[in-house]
Amino acid sequence: MPVDDGLSLQSTCRRLKLTEQAARHLLDQRENMKTRAPRNRTLTCTEAELESLSGGLLRLTAPASPEMLADRIVNQDLGDALPFVPTGFVDLLILDPPYNLTKNYNGHVFRSRDAEGYIAWFARTLTALLPTLRPKASLYVCSDWKTSNLVFPVLDKHLHVRNRITWEREKGRGAKTNWKNNTEDIWFCTVGDDYCFNVNDVKLKRRVIAPYRTDDGKPKDWVESQNGNYRLTYPSNLWSDITVPFWSMPENTDHPTQKPEKLIAKLVLASSNPGDFVFDPFLGSGTTAVVARKLNRRFCGIELSHEYCCWAAKRLLQAETDTNIQGYADGIFWERNSLSDQETRKATKTSPEEALELFND
Ligand SMILES: C[S@@+](CC[C@H](N)C(=O)[O-])C[C@H]1O[C@@H](n2cnc3c(N)ncnc32)[C@H](O)[C@@H]1O
Repeated sequence: MPVDDGLSLQSTCRRLKLTEQAARHLLDQRENMKTRAPRNRTLTCTEAELESLSGGLLRLTAPASPEMLADRIVNQDLGDALPFVPTGFVDLLILDPPYNLTKNYNGHVFRSRDAEGYIAWFARTLTALLPTLRPKASLYVCSDWKTSNLVFPVLDKHLHVRNRITWEREKGRGAKTNWKNNTEDIWFCTVGDDYCFNVNDVKLKRRVIAPYRTDDGKPKDWVESQNGNYRLTYPSNLWSDITVPFWSMPENTDHPTQKPEKLIAKLVLASSNPGDFVFDPFLGSGTTAVVARKLNRRFCGIELSHEYCCWAAKRLLQAETDTNIQGYADGIFWERNSLSDQETRKATKTSPEEALELFND
């Protein structure tokens, strides 16, 4: 048990009101922090930061208005908080629930269950959330390949299921007797037929493989640049341009299933407008909240783990001065490994409007 500067398991439990398991996890992490590589940019909180950031977290004990929840993090079990959450205020719901796997979220263990058990849990969760949605709202639900089959029938019963996005995560644990699990699904649903979809905000900048030219020799639907030829393409439901956060990225935390900001940015840009309300009831390390802030949306997130809430709060503070989203620059989503061209674009300062003009598909 790593103990330093007089911090004992008991005092940590008492001071931060944590369970013994959560306090043990926290102290272990503090120990890890000391041994990280110098270029490791993983965000963590000191004990003092945990205490000060706690002050900004909400715990709901009475009905709240949308204004009270706007741009706030609720540190509470979703089941305890939801009775106090208002109805009809959410424009975009991002649901990244525990998948049907046994996973330890900082001392709070979600246990895998049989298919019926998970379907019942997910159905209870979804139906409790539906009243929060506005009539034109959209909803995205993340899952792995196994959980995906369980959530689909529940979504199909209550909503218009419009698509299933498959995200190639690029990282996955190799298996000797099976295919490596390298993908996740994201179900796209809407409450009704009238909904927001800003396709021009989520086009992808791709390298041109066949650079056709018009009769007078001009590039056809693509652009020649110092670093190669590119075109803007309509976004498909197969996403292979996004890596999971890793230790050298400033958005990285120790959350075991953190989503990349670039992935959430696509959802937020496509399915909401500035000023809209984005709700994430399983906030984790705060990715949805951070992206919403960077893209000028209002947000509210609910998360059980106190420490994850503090990481989210710290990321939100940083987002006030640093609005960068890795892989998204000047209003355009870039392919993987195109950093040098992004840098060139920054240097030449092409406006997003000019860029779209150039790449109209
Ligand atoms: C899949 S993770 C979400 C990760 C998040 N999208 C991110 O980018 O960091 C699910 C989160 O739900 C939280 N959680 C699980 N059960 C919960 C509950 N009953 N109430 C609130 N949060 C819960 C877990 O602590 C975990 O952080």
